[in-house]
Amino acid sequence: MEILIKFIYLISAIFFIFGIKFLAKVKTARRGNRFAAFGMFLSVLATLIKMNFIEGSIGISTIIAGIVVGGFIGLIVSRTVKMTAMPELVAVFNGVGGGASVLVALSYVFSNQGQNFNLINSITVAFSVLIGVVTFSGSIIAFSKLKGLIKGEPILFTFSHFLNLVLLLGSVYFLYMGITGSLNGINDQAIQYFLIGGGIALVLGVLLVTPIGGADMPVVISLLNSYSGLAAAATGFVLGNLVLVVSGALVGASGIILTKIMCKAMNRSLTNVLFGGFGGPSEQESQEAGEYQGVKSTGAEEVAMMVDSADSIIIVPGYGLAVAQAQHAIRELVDELEKKGKKVQFAIHPVAGRMPGHMNVLLAEANIDYDKLKDLDQINSEFKNTDLVYVIGANDVVNPAAINDPKSPIFGMPILKVFEAATVINVKRSLSPGFANIKNPLFEQDNSLMFFEDAKKATEDIVKELREG
Ligand code: TAP
Repeated sequence: MEILIKFIYLISAIFFIFGIKFLAKVKTARRGNRFAAFGMFLSVLATLIKMNFIEGSIGISTIIAGIVVGGFIGLIVSRTVKMTAMPELVAVFNGVGGGASVLVALSYVFSNQGQNFNLINSITVAFSVLIGVVTFSGSIIAFSKLKGLIKGEPILFTFSHFLNLVLLLGSVYFLYMGITGSLNGINDQAIQYFLIGGGIALVLGVLLVTPIGGADMPVVISLLNSYSGLAAAATGFVLGNLVLVVSGALVGASGIILTKIMCKAMNRSLTNVLFGGFGGPSEQESQEAGEYQGVKSTGAEEVAMMVDSADSIIIVPGYGLAVAQAQHAIRELVDELEKKGKKVQFAIHPVAGRMPGHMNVLLAEANIDYDKLKDLDQINSEFKNTDLVYVIGANDVVNPAAINDPKSPIFGMPILKVFEAATVINVKRSLSPGFANIKNPLFEQDNSLMFFEDAKKATEDIVKELREG
């Protein structure tokens, strides 16, 4: 029986690995999700068999009740969550994952009172408590910032980083006391040490995330996702559960890779995201953002005419597309343009919007063909041969200051070189800056026109003009 269970665990780990692999491409992402879900089904099944037939420790009915309640909540949430609320949902998942790892590790401690722990077990319990608790409280703050329950701006105070260091050392000290205590037979005092260490980590998680700006939350959430994986892997060691170690390690590794990709695409270090307080009000930058000269504006009729005479068109979506929910209007525009025989492509910047894959998800929702979506490396050489670029609700990701101005805060960030195209239409409501809170010299260029309008309304008006004309 034990061999059978280990075999099922191994199969489910393989399903997890292939699940993650398939999730890496939009085309195979659904298959990836199904693979991972099936892997999870197998591991729950194996655990049920193990508990009921080998350990006899818990009634199957308790676990089935948990699956029914959890499954029902999951079903409702997955059916009702909006695409734009996905980062909040992931924050909740991470928090719950971290919290669950801590509870499992602590329940192991409580249920083994009086027994001597080996060193590995004690250390993994402590690790699970520290990382799991930080993930839990950090995720609650990340969720609250994204939901607007607390203010998104970085909350910084003097010595905040020093205080965090003190809290980290304090938590590690008490967990260390818990470890040494549990080696000689776990007693009430060792349990107290673990609980105090966890309590300090709870405050640490809060104070680690509050100084980070709301717009940087996707990076933080990805990092917390990685932490929740590490906490789960540590709990896997505590329980001697192979599949939990493997799945936790997969989450830990993929979370840190995604965090790195996001930081690279913003040309910022993780240290700058975590400790830089980016996204707070900066008077100098805001003032500079207002100084524009020679900006030319346009409207739906003129854009329709320009579009009509262009052969190649690249659409660059940004955060404003998500705000305006203009994806379906864009779909109609693409249909109209293709009817007229135009070549239409989309240029997707890796950090356009506010979460990884934000634009891909929105465009997929409007059934826009994946093959039309080109990433930065694929499309950047094509702008110079393109007649017209339609920038819709994007700002920082097309800002040439990232290339031309060494003093710019985004200098070095890879951008879409839309400024090289024959004509650039920028759809946004005003000259307000984007997330980086800086001026965009693209708007002053000779080949650049501003269409000051809500992204959805502007696109619908152009479609109307194209149909009528
Ligand atoms: P942004 O630079 O933030 O610019 C978005 C623009 O959309 C704004 O200038 C805004 O101008 C416009 N807008 C807002 N609502 C609109 C509406 N209803 N209709 C039309 N326009 C609207 O966006 P981006 O170019 O997508 O760049 C993303 C930024 O977010 C980058 O700086 C990136 O580093 C950062 N970031 C991204 C991520 C991920 S993972 N995607 C994570 C953290 C940070 P108006 O107000 O004038 O309309």
